[in-house]
Amino acid sequence: MCNQCKGNYYITTPIYYPSSNLHIGHAYCTVATDAMARYKRLQGYNVKFLTGTDEHGQKIEEKAKEAGVTPQQFVDNIVLGERGVLDLWKLMNISYDRFIRTTDDYHVAAIQKIFKKMYDNGDIYKGSYKGKYCTPCESFWTESQLVDGKCPDCGRECKDAEEEAYFFKMSKYADQLMKHIEEHPGFIQPESRKNEMINNFLKPGLQDLCVSRSSFTWGVPLTFAPGHVSYVWLDALSNYITFCGYDPDGNHDEHYKKFWPADLHLIGKDIVRFHTIYWPIFLMSMGEPLPKQVFGHPWLLVKGDKMSKSKGNMIYADDLVELFGVDAVRYFVLHEMPFASDGIMTYELIIERINSELANILGNLVNRTVAMNNKYFGGEIQVPNTPDALDEELKAVALAMPGKVEAKMNELKVADAIDEIFVLLRRANKYIDETMPWALAKSDETKPRLGTVLYNLLEAIRFAAIALKPFLPDTSDRILAQINAENGGLESLTSFGVLPSGTSVGAGEILF
Ligand code: ME8
Ligand code: MG
Repeated sequence: MCNQCKGNYYITTPIYYPSSNLHIGHAYCTVATDAMARYKRLQGYNVKFLTGTDEHGQKIEEKAKEAGVTPQQFVDNIVLGERGVLDLWKLMNISYDRFIRTTDDYHVAAIQKIFKKMYDNGDIYKGSYKGKYCTPCESFWTESQLVDGKCPDCGRECKDAEEEAYFFKMSKYADQLMKHIEEHPGFIQPESRKNEMINNFLKPGLQDLCVSRSSFTWGVPLTFAPGHVSYVWLDALSNYITFCGYDPDGNHDEHYKKFWPADLHLIGKDIVRFHTIYWPIFLMSMGEPLPKQVFGHPWLLVKGDKMSKSKGNMIYADDLVELFGVDAVRYFVLHEMPFASDGIMTYELIIERINSELANILGNLVNRTVAMNNKYFGGEIQVPNTPDALDEELKAVALAMPGKVEAKMNELKVADAIDEIFVLLRRANKYIDETMPWALAKSDETKPRLGTVLYNLLEAIRFAAIALKPFLPDTSDRILAQINAENGGLESLTSFGVLPSGTSVGAGEILF
């Protein structure tokens, strides 16, 4: 626990379905959350970053059956196995603090208690689920799932059927939720998602939600209703509080009191409804506070299409990392993803970004500067004792950068935050053109000025490297090692000229 902490900050990713290996879209969401978590740590917050897997449900049960293993074996393999979820996050440099699996014993026990609490307080009641039944397939369908009025699996006639099930009284909390959304304008972001929730779901009125299933068994069994398991979303959403020791009887763990309510649930736009309608209502039923913010990010499309196995356009982050290195992949997904509109990814675009931005703007600047300092001064970082009016703009851009990054990060505009760092890198490249170090190197008289110019460049690089840490952690460390500087955090970016003179830069190393 830090002494001068700014406070606690709790951030989450969705917990992903381990029904097959995770693809670059899942990686995008996790890298974005990681960047935010790392940024908050750099600012001095005591951060808790949670991710994990959502392991129950019919789909997993079916997949396991196809594979000829138990559901537990199936998910263990996807999560813990070779090139599994844990391997992927390690490869991507994800700095999570906790990884929750919904099959963890403590989580299962908490879900059973949560369900019972909602049942006891009258928010969950026993009813019946009316739908269509395909006898040959033994499958329940809703009217909307039918294809031309027939079973979507086998195409045969379905008949009306009724099944006992438990329901949650959603409508009971609709007004309270609407009021909360109105009084907390930042709760659902971006704005377009908020309007969608209000107009498409809240205004037309909420239906009671079926929260139990009895047609399959791979779920959390309800203690008071044999044969029924919890609806997978009630189970999954609750991970955000079970991980830190929420107890329905009120005997919470210290962690729960410290971290709940979460500061930010970062999720994809496809699951905003679950996080901004179901989840807040479940919390109201439990009598617990609501998360401070839910942000629904856009999609990462492949050549303008959603990724799908049948289209054969799946892209996996681990394959990309093998080809391009981890920070190039992190940079691409973070930078190509605008705030509210979908991002597009192709191999050509990745290569183009690596060449034009990472290699040319960032890599070249560092490489040229370090190489010149080695060539002209045997590596020794000089005392900047020969200032010139030309230096002022570079210094001003460097000093303004951290504040600009902060403003963008506060709005969750990660791509724009990275752009602010690149403004400084571009300015530094321009400074080389303006000062022409190679010309200054020609005479002994201009050597002190040359030392000052190279010092200013190294210092600008230090600013950029520290600011890049949340986004490109490895590259940041490699740059700082090359210029022999410490990562003094954001506090070390409040004055220009912190880099000590007299030490030596390392050997130049190609970054990208
Ligand atoms: O929905 N672009 O899990 P899931 C960007 N288990 N993000 C993408 C993406 C893409 N093309 N594809 C997926 C579930 N995502 C539930 C969540 S939370 C309590 C339970 C990301 O494995 C995006 O964040 O289907 C999306 O919301 C998440 O993966 C869903 O992953
Ligand atoms: Mg999904």
